[in-house]
Amino acid sequence: MKYGNIMSSTVIKDIKIAVIGGAGLEGRAIASELAASGYEVYIGSRNLFRAQEAAQKIAKTRGLNEERVIGATNVEAAKAADLVFLTIPYEALKDTLDQLAQHLIDKHIVDVIVPYKLRSPMLLNTRQLDRYRSHFGPGKSPSVTEEIYLYLQEATQRRPHITAALKTLSYKTLALSKNMKEPILTWGYNSEDMQILLSILRQVFPNAELVEVPQMYWRSVEGVCELIRFLTLQGVKIEALNFSYSQSKQ
Ligand SMILES: NC(=O)c1ccc[n+]([C@@H]2O[C@H](COP(=O)([O-])OP(=O)(O)OC[C@H]3O[C@@H](n4cnc5c(N)ncnc54)[C@H](OP(=O)(O)O)[C@@H]3O)[C@@H](O)[C@H]2O)c1
Repeated sequence: MKYGNIMSSTVIKDIKIAVIGGAGLEGRAIASELAASGYEVYIGSRNLFRAQEAAQKIAKTRGLNEERVIGATNVEAAKAADLVFLTIPYEALKDTLDQLAQHLIDKHIVDVIVPYKLRSPMLLNTRQLDRYRSHFGPGKSPSVTEEIYLYLQEATQRRPHITAALKTLSYKTLALSKNMKEPILTWGYNSEDMQILLSILRQVFPNAELVEVPQMYWRSVEGVCELIRFLTLQGVKIEALNFSYSQSKQ
C-alpha cells in the first residue's frame, strides 16, 4: 500500500515529518528527537517566526544541518510532510482540522493529544456520534483519535490514516532520547499504518517498549494518560502495561 510518499514495506527513514504545534513543549521535544534520528522535520506553528526560531534552536542544540529542521506555518508544514504529528491542545483541534483537513487526508497522522477534561460537546455532530455508538454501544464516547478520524472522513469523504502515540510521555521524559525506557502506548486502525508508526518509534526510542492498545480501550486509556505521565515524572516505574480483549459474558 502507498499513500503520500510512504511505502509501508520500506525502511522508513526518508520521509518528511511535520509537527503541528511543533514550537510548543511536547511538539518541540518530539521534533527534536525525530530530527536527531535523521528525519527531515517541519516545525509547524500559526506563527512563522515562532516556527523558524524553534527550528533553529533544535538544529543548534542537536548539531544538525538547518536544512533538515525547517520552520513553517502549520499549513505549509502539513503540505510538505508525509507524516504529521498533532501536538496542539484539544481545544485547538477543531479549528486546526478545519484549516488543515485537505492537506492531512493523504498523510499519516499521529495523534499525541490528551484532553485534560472530559469533552462535551465533542467535535462530532449527532449523526456521527449515533453512528459511532451504534457500533460501540450506547453512551460510549470516542477517543480523540476516533474523533479526528470521523471528523476528517466527514470533511473529505475519504479514509484518513491515523495512529496515536506518546500520549503518556512528558516532553521532559522524551528528552532522554535513546535512553528513554518508558513504555510507549500506541494505537491505530490498521496494521499498515501501525507498522509505519512502530518503525519510526523504534528508530527514535530504541530502548522503549512499544505497547499496542486495542480500539475498545482507546477512550479509557486516554483518560489515564495524564496520570501515567504525572506518575512517570515522579519516578514511579510502570513495570507492565498489557491490554487484551475477551468477550464479556454479560
Ligand atoms: N506537555 C506534555 O508533556 C505532553 C505530554 C503528552 C501529550 N501532550 C499533548 O500534546 C499537546 C500539546 O501539549 P503542550 O504541552 O506542548 O502544549 P502547548 O505548549 O501549550 O501548546 C502546543 C502548541 O499548540 C499551539 N496552540 C495553542 N493554542 C492553540 C490554538 N488555540 N489554536 C491552534 N494552535 C494552538 C501553539 O502553537 P503556535 O502558537 O506556535 O501555533 C502551542 O505552541 C496537548 O494536546 C497535550 O495534551 C503533552
